[in-house]
Amino acid sequence: MKVLALNSSPRTVSQSKTELMLNHLVRGMHDAGAEVELKNLHGKTIKNCIGCFTCFTKTPGVCIHKDDMTNELLPKWLKSDLVIYATPLYNYAMNATMKAFIERTLPSMQPFFEIHEDRMYHPVRGKWPAVVLLSVSGMPDEGHFSALSSHVRYLYSSPGRRLVTEIYRPAAESMSSPFLKQRVDDVLDATTQAGRELIHSMEVSPETMTRITQPFVDPRNFTIMANAMWKTCISERVTLKEFAEKKLIPRPDSLESFLLFFPLGVNDESVGDRKIVLQFKFTGEVENSCYFNIEKGLVDAQKGPPASSDITIETPFELWMDIMTNKADGGQMFMEQKYKVSGDLSLMMSLFQRPRTLCANESETSTP
Ligand SMILES: Cc1cc2nc3c(=O)[nH]c(=O)nc-3n(C[C@H](O)[C@H](O)[C@H](O)COP(=O)(O)O)c2cc1C
Repeated sequence: MKVLALNSSPRTVSQSKTELMLNHLVRGMHDAGAEVELKNLHGKTIKNCIGCFTCFTKTPGVCIHKDDMTNELLPKWLKSDLVIYATPLYNYAMNATMKAFIERTLPSMQPFFEIHEDRMYHPVRGKWPAVVLLSVSGMPDEGHFSALSSHVRYLYSSPGRRLVTEIYRPAAESMSSPFLKQRVDDVLDATTQAGRELIHSMEVSPETMTRITQPFVDPRNFTIMANAMWKTCISERVTLKEFAEKKLIPRPDSLESFLLFFPLGVNDESVGDRKIVLQFKFTGEVENSCYFNIEKGLVDAQKGPPASSDITIETPFELWMDIMTNKADGGQMFMEQKYKVSGDLSLMMSLFQRPRTLCANESETSTP
């Protein structure tokens, strides 16, 4: 089977989640024996359709523009059995590059009108490839794809067109997070599996689709964490790409965001078989207490003071956020008595050593 995979993300390989997902889908298709050609539309010249209908009249099937679409992309599209449209979700829709591409497939339609199930349409000229739509979004809500989905379903509902399946990955920006590595690996593995299934049976099984769309974090926590990240980008004056390149850590600005981020950096393996309670008593901008029940593989965050604790850290909130985001040296600040620790100091030190999951960060899912 001849497959043409079209990627309309303008971002680079290391940053684009559309490309990340598409590469895995294509890998699965290759595995299943398909002949796949991948084209990045960004960087190609695809002029906007000017609505002259020359391709319907003076030169049937041939566009008036002489650009990459006419010379390269449309001929490849017409020779394919299957096309993957891979687009980032922009304003609840496919992005402008993909839209321009699809508009420029007009020469592959006949000018005449026909009616099918009470709907008028243009019959196709020759044969159209079947289509798989792949899209990724920033937000975690799958409903954000509904406008795009109804658009392409409508587009492909007339005779001669076939929409094989739609693959949507919400919260795709979170795929760069080393904290989500296990889940992200499963999503990517499932996407490769979807590629195999598509070549074998022209469908994706519900189990595979469920793995692809699995939630990463609940929407409320997503909001708190994403907002902390944006605020950090703004205060550090870095782009999202630079944030990832510099391996910056989002700075918690409330007890709620601290409770979410702190467990991600704890080396929970260091406690062995013990169960320990680590308490924070904050002063300054956030005047509050919280604690973490830590046992191997689990860090449970709670507001308020615990019944008892193994380690208690009394610190100004902003100072601890400086330490957490590598703006201040925790050891140095301790020596200078900027914060106090009571309880097992050596256990505390081992808790704050970089956990193994973070050291194994340099996967293909993280931005280098
Ligand atoms: C102009 C623009 C519009 C966007 N619109 C939406 C949107 O409507 N819903 C959403 O969830 N994400 C939206 N996003 C976020 C992108 O879908 C998200 O960043 C995605 O990872 C981009 O794909 P890429 O990484 O392949 O470039 C938008 C991003 C941009 C730049």
